[in-house]
Amino acid sequence: MQIGISHRGKTYSTSTFGADATVFRPERWLEFGNGEAEREREKQMRTVVEEVFMSGKWTCPGREVARVELGKVFVEVSFVFSWGGGNGELGKGGKWKGKEES
Ligand code: HEM
Repeated sequence: MQIGISHRGKTYSTSTFGADATVFRPERWLEFGNGEAEREREKQMRTVVEEVFMSGKWTCPGREVARVELGKVFVEVSFVFSWGGGNGELGKGGKWKGKEES
């Protein structure tokens, strides 16, 4: 028997990430309030994101390399592109605008 996790299901979960879970809105990571419930909510979101690398015996050995690469990619891409909502339907692609177009 094989058991798997649907990362798409987990990372698009509205109960974890809010009603707009499918929207690209990175600022959601900066909006935590005070109090125990908010701390728990942040913890839950971070846990779900960590789980894309799996855990324990089945964790990705390249996770730290991936983190370094992702940190670099976002900076490099930001030099060329402006971040913004795409005009495509979720999962069907959107349109990226070069800085000179925006
Ligand atoms: C965002 C980027 C990445 C994600 C989400 C990711 C996720 C995963 C996942 C879920 C597994 C399967 C773990 C399992 O079930 O056994 C895995 C395996 C693996 N990953 Fe990554 N990974 C990423 C980047 C990388 C990078 C950058 C490297 C190398 C530098 C790497 C090297 C490996 C290797 C060698 C395995 C196989 C481990 C094994 O079967 O023993 N990964 N990764």
